[in-house]
Amino acid sequence: MKGPLVLIGLMGSGKTSVGRELAARLGWPWVDLDAAIVKVHRRSIPEQFARDGEAKFRARESALLKRYTAPGPRVLSTGGGVVLSPANRARLKGCTCIYLQASAEALAGRLKGREAQNRPLLKGQDVRRVLGRLARKRGPLYRESATLTVLASQGSPKDVAARILARL
Ligand code: S3P
Repeated sequence: MKGPLVLIGLMGSGKTSVGRELAARLGWPWVDLDAAIVKVHRRSIPEQFARDGEAKFRARESALLKRYTAPGPRVLSTGGGVVLSPANRARLKGCTCIYLQASAEALAGRLKGREAQNRPLLKGQDVRRVLGRLARKRGPLYRESATLTVLASQGSPKDVAARILARL
């Protein structure tokens, strides 16, 4: 398997929890891209969107994606919007890229309360509707970038990680 192993998919698809589990099983370091952006820029993601704007957040995301997609044994959990930029998608081509696919219904069920509050694209919105729109727009981009697609609507992070490793 060609490292890094990168998890992509919509918000709530389990990129963080499955990534942590995969890293533990492989004995590889784990990096969460959203957490790295918060650490480097010392502001929460809602604050970055509100004070600096989404475009700046995306530029920061691209810069750190570049850093963490350098070749090597590593598991990288990304944010759902990472596939929007063609340059980011080109970077993902050099990685083993796993698309955690789940229906908008299943994701909306997971993204309630605080989970939606922490996500600027969902806060105060009809979550099911926004996720449906994002799924239509981004589904082709996730598929284009993926080495492997795994259904992530059901099963624990451990189950999903085991299914991924069985197929790599
Ligand atoms: C976003 C997803 C979030 C975070 C930001 C934007 C998106 O990450 O990067 O709120 O555009 O889908 P998660 O997918 O980890 O929630």
